[in-house]
Amino acid sequence: MDEFPVKGMDAVVFAVGNAKQAAHYYSTAFGMRRVAYRGPENGSPDEAVHVLESGGARFVFRGPVRAGTGIGRHVAEHGDGIVDLAIEVPDVEAAYRHAVAKGATGLEEPHVMEDEYGKVTIAAIATYGETRHSLVDRSNYSGPYLPGFAAADPIVEPPEKRFFQAIDHCVGNVERMDEWAGFYHRVMGFTDMAEFIGDDIATEYSALMSKVVADGTRKVKFPLNEPAESKRKSQIDEYLEFYGGPGVQHIALATNDILASVDRMRAAGVEFLDSPDSYYDDPELRARIGEVRVPIEELRARRILVDRDEDGYLLQIFTKPVQDRPTVFFELIERHGSLGFGKGNFKALFEAIEREQERRGNL
Ligand SMILES: [Fe+2]
Repeated sequence: MDEFPVKGMDAVVFAVGNAKQAAHYYSTAFGMRRVAYRGPENGSPDEAVHVLESGGARFVFRGPVRAGTGIGRHVAEHGDGIVDLAIEVPDVEAAYRHAVAKGATGLEEPHVMEDEYGKVTIAAIATYGETRHSLVDRSNYSGPYLPGFAAADPIVEPPEKRFFQAIDHCVGNVERMDEWAGFYHRVMGFTDMAEFIGDDIATEYSALMSKVVADGTRKVKFPLNEPAESKRKSQIDEYLEFYGGPGVQHIALATNDILASVDRMRAAGVEFLDSPDSYYDDPELRARIGEVRVPIEELRARRILVDRDEDGYLLQIFTKPVQDRPTVFFELIERHGSLGFGKGNFKALFEAIEREQERRGNL
């Protein structure tokens, strides 16, 4: 019996300085479709909120409309970032009571919101930093997002083929990984996934430790990173300094055609991390990855990484930070059986990230 059943990710909610422009960027560069809006025109005098979708993935962009708002303060403090990893659950009341009984901080008691499309039950608990988990039951709702939101037209004509169809995992940067892994074990009954990384990647390049917690069905996966001791400033330390504390580091987006998605996103101006040529020249690479669906030269041309484990393989690539601060970024991931997160790529990835850090003078 699952003590904290979940149906999946409901939404990733961003606080941004200018939600109108963010909605445009994610429409043109990430191929998303705007579906809903709420702002001063329909009952939200302080905040403009644009809701975008790509398949089953939903992003919500909240921006301040006037001075002196809570969302404006969050942006001033942290820059553009993620305020809420909302989780869809079958029973909000039970999930909330369980979480609070296990020590989670309640931020919003369960309550019902209603309009002509039906009812949504919602509650919220706190997690690391100033991030929250809304708990959402929308099983009795047919509207475009939440009660109070109006359906909205796409900002640009959405692409014929979407760039990604789901949220694969959401990664947090924290100061104490074990404490937060324990939080998810206790509060949500999540368990560690097979792939977790301890001292074995604390090389001269890495300086981070990572652990992955997930629900029993593996629909909601939350890797957690903490900085590790090293000679140079870790990328996690850089994040914590520039974000102003713990927060969401990256969102991985599941795609079934990473080559096409990378090509279209690059053409639209998205910057991806450049993996070194040495990665593709390494004679051990072919031995390590075996047969994959595309020639290595196609991966090299796009700087896509590949990793294999006992269950299969995955293709992945990481964007550079998508705002001026070196904080939040995205990953595209195409899975072929593998349930991993690219452990075999960590060293290649760290080298690439550290080259960027060096250019910013933060290494
Ligand atoms: Fe990832």
